[in-house]
Order: sequence, then C-alpha cells, then structure tokens
Amino acid sequence: MRSAPQKLVIAIDGPAASGKGTLARRLAGAFNLPYLDTGLLYRAVARRVLDAGGTAAQDAIAQAQSLNRVDLTRTDLRTPDVDRMASAVASIAEVRAILLDFQRDFATASGAVLDGRDIGTIVFPGAPVKLYVTASLDVRAARRHAERAASGIDTTLAAVRDDLAARDEADRTRAAAPLKPAPDAHRLDTSAMDADHAFEAAAAIVNRTLAHL
Ligand code: DC
Repeated sequence: MRSAPQKLVIAIDGPAASGKGTLARRLAGAFNLPYLDTGLLYRAVARRVLDAGGTAAQDAIAQAQSLNRVDLTRTDLRTPDVDRMASAVASIAEVRAILLDFQRDFATASGAVLDGRDIGTIVFPGAPVKLYVTASLDVRAARRHAERAASGIDTTLAAVRDDLAARDEADRTRAAAPLKPAPDAHRLDTSAMDADHAFEAAAAIVNRTLAHL
C-alpha cells in the first residue's frame, strides 16, 4: 500500500446503505487520512430541528449556522425520523452552502476521505480519487435492516426498503446538489461484495490512481 501524498482527497459518493461509509472508514485507515462522514452533518442539523420541535426550512438554516463538532458525536443520529428529516434539510440550498465550508475546511490541513452525495461533484470536484459506490435496492435494504435490528430498532424489511427508495429518489431529483456520479468517478457496485472485497477493489483503484498522479 503506497503512502498518500500530502492533502490527498478521496471523494466517495453513492446512495444510502451502499457500503460507502464502511469503505470510506477503511480507506482512511489504510491511507492514513482523516475521515468525515458528511451525512452526519445533515443528520446533526436534522436532529436539532426535530429536538426544537421544528419542521420547516427556516429552522434548518438556523440550526446549520450554529452546528459544531460535538453535534456529530451524538448517538441518536441514525434513527428513522432523522433519516427522513436529514433528507429534507439536505434539499435546502442555504443549508448546503453553510455545510460546504465545514467540509472543505476539514480536508484543508492534511487531506481527507469524505463520503456523501456530492463530494466528487460539488465539495471537491478536483479530488484526484473519486468513487461512486452503488448496490441494488434489495441488497441495500437488507443491509440497513440488519443494522437497524442490531441496534434494537424494530422495523420490517419492506418498510426499510420503501424508506430507502423514497430517500434515494429525493436525493437524486432535488435541485440543490443532487446525488449523481461525477463524470470522472470510478464506479463500484458492491451488490455481490462483502466489506473486505469492496475495500480491496477500492484500494486497488486508489493505488492505481496515485501511481498516475
Ligand atoms: O449518508 P446518510 O444517509 O447519512 O445521509 C443523510 C442524508 O443527508 C441523506 O438523505 C442525503 C444527505 N446528504 C447529502 O445530501 N449530501 C451529503 N454530502 C451527505 C448526505
């Protein structure tokens, strides 16, 4: 494994439960880079909106303006109500603009691996390594359902599948920074891969790209 040059940014995008978070964390460890799960930023804003009893766009903008790093360590950011509110706040252009600075600042000092929906297209369009991670809806629903069950959340596979499909549709069709692959992203379909296999495939792509920098 080659060591990464200074300020390397690895941009990882893809739909919910595609395996991009696990992959991003492992790549960050292997290439000795800080890791930012950018979905947590939207989740932390959503959590604050819910806690404040709010539902509307204006609440989300105010909450995004006062977000700090401590919010990202909350343990209640992966509940179904946060899933839905995060997708809603992520469609608000003003919220995205506020979170953009946070994401760019994060990678300034020493580079980073970031995963999200618009990292390769908007946040770091110049990133030398971009991955677009996908998996079929059925595979993603099964993964998310297993995670939910493991954390004690009682839900059905059908409900998880419907939720994922609705969020994907919202993330793909919104006007502000919709989910889509950057033209120069390497696509990785993890439907038939376990986490080790996905990591090996992704690390090979990163190493190949670094060799040509
Ligand atoms: O990856 P996730 O499920 O934790 O993301 C939560 C929500 O935030 C999801 O609906 C998409 C949105 N999001 C986004 O719009 N842009 C990002 N860079 C990361 C997440």
